[in-house]
Amino acid sequence: MVKQKVEEEIRSGIIMTVFSTASAVGKTLLSVNMAAELARSGYKVCVVDLDLQFGDICNYLHLSPQKTIYDAHKAAENTVGQLDYGEYMTPYEYEDTVFSVLAAPLKMEEAYNIPTQAVIEVLAGIRGEYDYVVLDTTATFSDLNLAVMDLSTMITFVGIVDFIPTIKNMKVGYDTMRSIGYEKNKIRFVLNRSNSKTHIELQDVEQLLEERFYHILPNDFLTAIDSIHQGIPLVINDEETVLSRGMQELIEKYTNRARQRSSRKNASLSSWVKRLFK
Ligand SMILES: Nc1ncnc2c1ncn2[C@@H]1O[C@H](COP(=O)(O)OP(=O)(O)OP(=O)(O)O)[C@@H](O)[C@H]1O
Ligand SMILES: [Mg+2]
Repeated sequence: MVKQKVEEEIRSGIIMTVFSTASAVGKTLLSVNMAAELARSGYKVCVVDLDLQFGDICNYLHLSPQKTIYDAHKAAENTVGQLDYGEYMTPYEYEDTVFSVLAAPLKMEEAYNIPTQAVIEVLAGIRGEYDYVVLDTTATFSDLNLAVMDLSTMITFVGIVDFIPTIKNMKVGYDTMRSIGYEKNKIRFVLNRSNSKTHIELQDVEQLLEERFYHILPNDFLTAIDSIHQGIPLVINDEETVLSRGMQELIEKYTNRARQRSSRKNASLSSWVKRLFK
């Protein structure tokens, strides 16, 4: 009986890392919106700010964390057995949407003093408590980013098509990930700010990468900045925009909801047709 209860409480703990090889491409905005959309869809979600030195998750959500990943790491060091990580989470709540945030350290020296292995242990400790753990990262091939990408179920590789060096870095980054053995399927290219002015053709970028973009998000500076000013993720804001819809569609693809919906539609259509010709 007790065993069954424990089994029921263990969740799938899908780790979704948001990564890029350039700064300011929209990783943090996308991370909070992925977390919000997954939570809105009924999943138990945690977003972890792994931009340890300059994390923005709490700024984007207007949260003032009392405890951070640093406190969780210190407590875990002094705990025998499993730590209750719930105590270290900052809850985000807007209307019916609720998810947890594991905040970045509040001080630079704390950020500097978290070993990669400690972050991995924290993630191992929390993943069974959530359906989805979204990780916001920095734009570097650091020891930490490589370690978390290793244990990720899926990596959202955010890119923008603006200047040649940005595209070159995406190519270098992707080739590196493939060379260390990551499956193609594990990496999903998401093009952000797609309709911003640029003279570079998307097809040329895809040809260079030898990979198609899995999803494309439009450029909408006012909507993005407005959401940050309000501290409300776009996907749960009342006003639907092309950008918020695009983010919802990305999550629909990731969670296969779109496919389920269309197969449900087909199923009902075929049963309707069957009834007609019975
Ligand atoms: N689709 C978009 N359209 C317009 N502006 C966007 C879009 N996505 C993100 N932005 C804006 O780009 C800026 C950078 O976004 P964000 O902080 O999410 O990037 P980042 O990749 O996390 O940056 P960093 O590497 O510094 O952590 C923000 O001002 C955000 O509002
Ligand atoms: Mg960021």
